[in-house]
Amino acid sequence: MLVTGNDILVPARAGKYGVGSFNTNNMEITQAIIHTAERLRSPVMVQMSEGAIKYGGQDLANIVIDLAERATVPVALHLDHGSSYESALKAIKMGFTSVMIDASHHQFAENIQETRRVVEAAHAMGISVEAELGRLGGIEEHIVVDEKDAFLTDPEEAVQFVEQTGTDYLAIAIGTSHGAYKGKGRPFIDHERIEKIEKLLSIPLVAHGSSGVPAEIVQRFRDCGGEIGDAFGIADEDLQRATQHGIAKVNVDTDLRLAMTVGVREILKNSPKEFDPRKIMGPAREVMSKIVEHKLGVLGSVGKA
Ligand code: G3H
Ligand code: 13P
Ligand code: ZN
Repeated sequence: MLVTGNDILVPARAGKYGVGSFNTNNMEITQAIIHTAERLRSPVMVQMSEGAIKYGGQDLANIVIDLAERATVPVALHLDHGSSYESALKAIKMGFTSVMIDASHHQFAENIQETRRVVEAAHAMGISVEAELGRLGGIEEHIVVDEKDAFLTDPEEAVQFVEQTGTDYLAIAIGTSHGAYKGKGRPFIDHERIEKIEKLLSIPLVAHGSSGVPAEIVQRFRDCGGEIGDAFGIADEDLQRATQHGIAKVNVDTDLRLAMTVGVREILKNSPKEFDPRKIMGPAREVMSKIVEHKLGVLGSVGKA
């Protein structure tokens, strides 16, 4: 069933498990996400960025909405990194049940103002909202405290921000970053900061940049001719610890991008005569399903729907 973000994330925070929020850009990615969640009786969120909306538009949104409505588990369609009030409103008109307003690059007061506008409009239509405070970016373990504080989310500010905006869930900067290169080796995650924020805020917290970039997928990517540097992601143990302390929404895009590309490349490399799209995209969908299955297991949402 198609539900709002709150319907999925409030029980997740209370039950101390994480919900995977996976980016989609086509039908096969969407099927891998929703069908795997159904098989494992897990709630799930499917998110489209503004880039995904530009690429797939209402056609892609309708695929997600249709699969979600027919799904036997709760599914939300979420706008990822909405950059403006207009973008959030457009997504709501398209049928999204959850929207992010990302005004985190603005000054604190302006972030509050932009977020509050979206919250007021979205709530009037029964849609839940994610906002972001702090700046995402890889942090090295040895970096001095002042520098960390400059862009990781300040716990006291987070309280003020939530009080003044009424956002339903909050993305916090805790050391993760987007993409396949999250640092040299195991990326630094500021668990103490998460635990401070957990004590001060009762709403669901969101971790962006949460792909694991599994070594096995990276190796397969290389083995079929892909070129990738020293790629690292967030360790499963870090995500498990975070979900015990308030992180309820866990964003994953890079892992499915890598998985889909590996699936396609392997077929093209091993079966050069193949040109039936179903025999190329079908196996790619399988590789993605395995990634989704692993992530849902790590987050502890299996059997929660
Ligand atoms: O956080 C960004 C997501 O990975 C979406 O990326 O804007 O290229 O679709 P995109
Ligand atoms: P990854 O690049 O780690 O998959 O993060 C995706 C994300 O945060 C989307 O909002
Ligand atoms: Zn993100």
